[in-house]
Order: sequence, then structure tokens, then C-alpha cells
Amino acid sequence: MKYSEIYLEDNYLKENFSEYLKKENLDSILKLKKENAKILDYPSIERFSKPIEEIPNIKTSLFDYSSSKSIIIGDRKEISFEDYKKIINGLKALIPWRIGPFEYFGVFIDSEWNSFIKYSIIKDYLDVKDKIVGDIGTNNGYFMFKLLNHNPSFIIGFDVLDRYFFYYYLNKKFIKLNNIKFELISVDNIDLFENFFDYLLFMGVLYHRRNPVDTVVKINKALKKGGRVLVESMVIDEYEESVFLFPESRFMKAINVWFIPSKKALINIFERNGFKLEEIIGVFPHSVNEQRNTPWVNTQSLRDFINPKDPTKTIEGYPLPKRMYALFRKKK
Ligand SMILES: C[S@@+](CC[C@H](N)C(=O)[O-])C[C@H]1O[C@@H](n2cnc3c(N)ncnc32)[C@H](O)[C@@H]1O
Repeated sequence: MKYSEIYLEDNYLKENFSEYLKKENLDSILKLKKENAKILDYPSIERFSKPIEEIPNIKTSLFDYSSSKSIIIGDRKEISFEDYKKIINGLKALIPWRIGPFEYFGVFIDSEWNSFIKYSIIKDYLDVKDKIVGDIGTNNGYFMFKLLNHNPSFIIGFDVLDRYFFYYYLNKKFIKLNNIKFELISVDNIDLFENFFDYLLFMGVLYHRRNPVDTVVKINKALKKGGRVLVESMVIDEYEESVFLFPESRFMKAINVWFIPSKKALINIFERNGFKLEEIIGVFPHSVNEQRNTPWVNTQSLRDFINPKDPTKTIEGYPLPKRMYALFRKKK
């Protein structure tokens, strides 16, 4: 079976949500999914799919998303040494593990980001009991699992690269994910989920957008009236005014960072586009405790992005950004 077919065979949108979505929107989403699924059949995915396919389906009784920093899936005692080796191989194929940590059958994955720090900052604001939640830029799904501590009725994670499907596919080998789904859909199309979500996580994505205003408008459209979005973004703390930094080329070595707001601009871009600020959760410096190189990451990390001559600047000489967290409500 092709991976596109595996991705498309889950019919939960039609089965559970057809009355929540306009018919033409649901049709467009299904058409878009079909189109986007094509990347799952490119030969290049074999680097993930082959080692993961070796791993048998082992339904585990250990799925713990609450008692530690890690998402813990599976107990080493449940599996043979042969399967353990296959699991390690599969996990290694998914390097770089950006967010986490995770623990699979006793294998601890120390991801680049210690995302428990982010979770600790946001957890008191995750008022999602019985709500439909979306996680935009879900990556490997760490925050979808942590959201389970807050009893949402349903979670959909959105991301755009083929590799993120395979983290989800791997997890499905071990645990049932009835109310957690992964979609290969960009935030560019989130507006097709018109008036659908009660709550959205939008963390670490805004500065990657070429057209951040359009993105905020689309997020607004995807929320029900009174729905909320929890936003986390890099901000340039030094700038008092409502301005965005537009890097000349790279920013902290990344080529895909386009607009970095000041704190005021982050509030403004949401408030000018249908939201009301509910709360500034906080503004925090980047820290090498939170983002660092580990054996589960094969790329450079924060330490390499800071200017060695002046740690208040990026390697390119821009002010070192901080990270701001804020909660906005869609206006009635
Ligand atoms: C910096 S990571 C943030 C991950 C996680 N949300 C967090 O806060 O730790 C940005 C994520 O957004 C995803 N992303 C980038 N462009 C996107 C888009 N157009 N739609 C949805 N996700 C996107 C990336 O693939 C990546 O997984």
C-alpha cells in the first residue's frame, strides 16, 4: 500500500465532522489532502519509510503523557531485543528530533528543544476541555500529546513536510490515536476549516511566513467566534514601536525567517485582524538549556546562532530575539 493511501484512508473528517464543515470546504479539504499526499509516494521518503516499516505493530499499554517531561510510549520489557534494535533504527531515521523529549520502549530521545519548558509556560492557559483543538506546525506532535492532559475532545496537528507524517505513522504502530490526527496541510489552507476550531496553538511559525498578515486572517477564519489562539513567536524586544525586522538574508543562519515582530507588532498584527489580546503570557530569553545540540539532532543549534563576540546579537549582528507568548480571542 502506498503511504498516500495510508494517509488518505482515515476518513474521520467525513465521518465525524461533516456537519461542522461547509460541504464545499470539506470537499476542498479532501481534494487538497489528495494533492498533498503525493509527496508521500516520492522515492525520497524511503529514508524514513524503510526503517520504520521494519518495526512491527506493537500495541503497548504504556502511553504516559503526564508524569514526566517526556512522552513515554512503550516499555522495554514488552519487546524482544530484535524489535528493540528495529525501533532504534526507525527512531534514528527520523533524526533530527526537533521537539520533545520522547521515550520509546526505554530509548530516551533528547530532542533539540527541551519542549517541556515551553509546555510549562503555556500549560495553565490550555483551557481546552471538550474542545476541538488545532496545533499549527505540530512537527513530531509533542504538544498534541501534552494537550491530552487538558482533555480536549479532538486534536488535529498540521505540518507540511513528508517527514512529519512518519512520526505520526510510527506512533500509530504503538498506540491508538482516535482523537489525535495529523494533516499534511499548510496554515495557508487552514481557513478551509472555517469556524471549526475552539482553540489553536500557533507556536514557532509566524516568523516563517512570507505573508504573516494573510496567515493571521486565515487563523481567524478557522476559529469559532470567541475561540482562542495561543501564539508563540520570536520577538525583537529592543524595538519599542510596532515594527517587524526583515532580515537582509539569513537570520540565526536560517533562510526561512522572514518577519520578526517587536512585541507591539505581534499584538498589533492579531488585534488589527479580528482578535483581542487576552493576556501576554510572557517574554523569555532564548536559552541553551532549552535549545541545544544532542545526539538526536544532526544540525547546528542555538549556540551556533549567537554572535561569539557579542552574545546579545545573532551571528549576523541582529539583536538576539526573545520568545513571546500571548493568548488572543477571536472577536465576536
Ligand atoms: C519552529 S518549529 C515549531 C514547532 C512547534 N510548534 C513548537 O513550537 O515547538 C516550526 C514548525 O512549523 C512547521 N511549518 C512551517 N511552515 C508551515 C506551514 N506553512 N504550515 C504548517 N506548518 C508549518 C515546520 O515544518 C515546523 O514543524
